[in-house]
Amino acid sequence: MSQDPLVVFTPSGKRGRFPKGTPVLTAARQLGVDLDSVCGGRGICSKCQITPSYGEFSKHGVTVHQDALSEWNAVEERYDQKRGLKPGRRLGCQAQVMGDVVIDVPPESQVHRQVVRKAASARVIEMDPATRLYFVEVDEPDMHEPTGDLERLERALSREWDIPAIRADQSLLSKLQPVLRKGKFQVTVALHKSHTDDVARLIEIWPGLHEDGLYGLAIDLGSTTIAAHLTDLDTGEVKASSGIMNPQIRFGEDLMSRVSYSMMNPGGDREMTSAVREAIDTLADEIAKEAGIDPHLIVETVFVCNPVMHHLLLGIDPVELGQAPFALATSDSISMPARELDLTTINPRARTYILPCIAGHVGADAAAVALSEEPGKSEDLVLIVDVGTNAEILLGDRARVLACSSPTGPAFEGAQISSGQRAAPGAIETIRIDPVTKEPRFRVIGCDKWSDEDGFDAEIAASGITGICGSGIIEAVAEMRIAGLVDESGLIGSAAATGTPRSVPEGRTHAYLIHDATADGGPRITVTQGDIRAIQLAKSALYAGARLLMDERGVDKVDCVVLAGAFGAHISPLHAMVLGMIPDVPLDKVTSAGNAAGTGARIALCNVAARIEIERVVGQISKVETAIEPKFQEHFVAANAIPHKTDPFPELGRLVTLPHVSFNVGAGGDGDGEDGGRRRRRRRA
Ligand code: FES
Repeated sequence: MSQDPLVVFTPSGKRGRFPKGTPVLTAARQLGVDLDSVCGGRGICSKCQITPSYGEFSKHGVTVHQDALSEWNAVEERYDQKRGLKPGRRLGCQAQVMGDVVIDVPPESQVHRQVVRKAASARVIEMDPATRLYFVEVDEPDMHEPTGDLERLERALSREWDIPAIRADQSLLSKLQPVLRKGKFQVTVALHKSHTDDVARLIEIWPGLHEDGLYGLAIDLGSTTIAAHLTDLDTGEVKASSGIMNPQIRFGEDLMSRVSYSMMNPGGDREMTSAVREAIDTLADEIAKEAGIDPHLIVETVFVCNPVMHHLLLGIDPVELGQAPFALATSDSISMPARELDLTTINPRARTYILPCIAGHVGADAAAVALSEEPGKSEDLVLIVDVGTNAEILLGDRARVLACSSPTGPAFEGAQISSGQRAAPGAIETIRIDPVTKEPRFRVIGCDKWSDEDGFDAEIAASGITGICGSGIIEAVAEMRIAGLVDESGLIGSAAATGTPRSVPEGRTHAYLIHDATADGGPRITVTQGDIRAIQLAKSALYAGARLLMDERGVDKVDCVVLAGAFGAHISPLHAMVLGMIPDVPLDKVTSAGNAAGTGARIALCNVAARIEIERVVGQISKVETAIEPKFQEHFVAANAIPHKTDPFPELGRLVTLPHVSFNVGAGGDGDGEDGGRRRRRRRA
């Protein structure tokens, strides 16, 4: 039996015997242990940190003595003095195996480290980005052996990192020579190799060891908002998240109005393309500033978006998406240089990946939700709704996954609502209405206190109370229904019928007054009849889309519901059900996935294999086209009532009793209320 020392790595459990004097990094590489290194073992990058354990390890059958590794050396001492090593840590490229040893590789030293993305479900993203850093020592030029600098860089990459060939952009060649000389022929390069590339591309080069990291942007390009997550491509950490309104709104609030703008105005598509590209460029600049990084360190972007946004981003006229058969210019994923999208603030050689689209109305955003939520791996039949201006809906389990999109309009995002606003400090996000007094109490974004609590006014002094955001309007309408201020058909009752002066006349209809600061020059925040109608249209479209998928699967109930979308995290499941946004399921079966499309984009940014996976999964998703399905209209009409006209909601009935009220249009109030309603029905009869 070999007398060589036994090395056991944790947490992988990989083990092997190595001659005395073998560096721990070498042992790790030979065993296929996931231990990081950028500098190739030169003791300057500190990526290879390990923690040796000493003592008796019966589980591994080894006893580790204090001299199991070589002594702390000068390189480690220098690094410790300069940067500091945590107690007990060694540099794996410096410490040599001298006896049996158990070595732990901490998470931050693993190349494929896992990033927990949702504490609740402990699901993880495994880091395996397309762009990575490599430190190399390039041979100096030699008159007797004339070769170019680029060729010698290639030779060094092949020798030190086993990278056989690279492709270099013309724009980098002018930089190559001064950088090599500045770094005394020691340089760090960023190489990009995605799943579709046969050869790695040289993205950037720095003199010496580059220690400022590499970043990517995961961008969820929505019809109303554009959200970006600046992600560290080494650790997977989100350094900053930021969002802006999509400037295309000025051409039309929803997708179809933007398609019509393009149809009616020659060159309209190009106007919308420039507007959105400019906004993304500005967003990239702002988010880099917010995180305090050089925007040129952003070397990758990943986009998820619906088909119309997809086409307009790429500079394709979306006219074909406005009419059956809703043909996409391409449904495949796209890998391209970011500069072709006019992204000028980030690295000029940055790459872009756009997830595949599922169909003409079901885009890369739905694909991203599928990547993030994995309905195809679920034992239960799960309904996933990504709530936005256009709702992406997925229904499925291991057997089959279906998808559709439904035009909900921007009401759920607080747009087209009289007091609506986007989710920002000062916006009402939660509201309760006392069913007896009909008085509201609420919370605004940026303050934990309720409006009737001491200290609320002081805490909101800076932001004020400015409007209602998407989750706030959903709660407000549902609470109005629970409190008997709104009837099943969605009509708001008069003051006489509801018994509260907060029901104020507005033309021939009524509005519910939540907050009036007009005396101090502030806003008057109400929920109007028009707001209720907008919410009814949005929720009916959402529900009808879900029902259509359920019909297709031949079911009339689902096991669980996942609410996704930028504000999915903030929607109260109970209120969503009172409103009839989602089918009846036990409340504990309704969960929130936050911004699932954005998470899907982040996964594709951090892991190349996930790109292969989603391209495969998309091919297996069956899509249902809501626009041409006659039953959609039928479901839509039935879903208009609050919560619904024909579907029973037994689970909801166990939680809340909805009052049987019925109101009439007209500001006078005469004859409103339950009795008045009955009188009119009798008269009609
Ligand atoms: S591999 Fe870079 S410090 Fe050890």
